[in-house]
Amino acid sequence: MGTALITGATSGIGKEFAWQLAGEGNDIVLVARNRERLDALAEQITNFTGQQVETLSADLSSEEGARTVGQRVADKERPIGLVINNAGFGLGQQFLGGSLDRELEALDVMARAILIICHHAAQEFAGRGYGTILNVSSMTSLTAQGTYSAHKAWLRTFSEGLSEILKPHGVGVTVACPGLVHTEFHERTNVDSSQWPELAFTPVHRVVAKSLDAARCGQVIVTPSIKYTGVAAAIRVMPRWLVRKVAGPGRSGLE
Ligand SMILES: NC(=O)c1ccc[n+]([C@@H]2O[C@H](COP(=O)([O-])OP(=O)(O)OC[C@H]3O[C@@H](n4cnc5c(N)ncnc54)[C@H](OP(=O)(O)O)[C@@H]3O)[C@@H](O)[C@H]2O)c1
Repeated sequence: MGTALITGATSGIGKEFAWQLAGEGNDIVLVARNRERLDALAEQITNFTGQQVETLSADLSSEEGARTVGQRVADKERPIGLVINNAGFGLGQQFLGGSLDRELEALDVMARAILIICHHAAQEFAGRGYGTILNVSSMTSLTAQGTYSAHKAWLRTFSEGLSEILKPHGVGVTVACPGLVHTEFHERTNVDSSQWPELAFTPVHRVVAKSLDAARCGQVIVTPSIKYTGVAAAIRVMPRWLVRKVAGPGRSGLE
């Protein structure tokens, strides 16, 4: 797929994307905030796979950080074939009584930054006639678990529309909607992930492999697990009052 740029690449799902893509012979650009982790991972991947790994430290909650990544994606001298918008986090708070700054940070990382990066990617990829965008949304895009659900629903809808806009230009857009995955996601917000049965988790290697397969095949929406494909189908036929009851803000696992 050419050089792949991955945001949120130092941990969890993003790190697995980096390993799988480098293992297939692609060069990589790793994006996250923590410079030490970026450099350590870059060294490991290069040593194991022989691929070139570039690092870009950027805070995607700032417009400057998002524009820097967007400009790297659109760099004609060092073309990117695949951009994966994966960086994200759980808010770890309720809306009522929670910090407004934290809410704005989440909106900036999980919506605004992706809009900025996709805008750069869209112009460059459409102009040259190839490229792929893979956005990491969530199963919660179908539920009503507060603002996190809303950001992921925005990403899903945005990606669907963008796929139609870019298809005639030879550019693919895929949105992945994983369910629960063991990463640093829950521990970063002190959420006890043992509250969910182990069966509810999809192995990270499977989430990533299925998402990449979908992107390669030009599939627009992928639920990278059979279990969650069934859950998604059930949610789609449920009345929304029932979705709010069983998967509303009080069901985000924060309590
Ligand atoms: N784990 C799950 O159960 C699950 C389920 C569905 C969807 N997802 C989605 O999957 C994506 C990846 O999450 P994960 O589970 O792999 O979480 P994770 O292990 O916590 O990794 C999050 C990554 O995002 C980066 N990041 C966070 N804030 C950032 C910022 N402001 N600027 C730049 N990078 C930032 C982190 O690196 P730095 O801290 O160094 O910046 C890290 O590399 C997220 O979009 C998440 O919403 C996760």
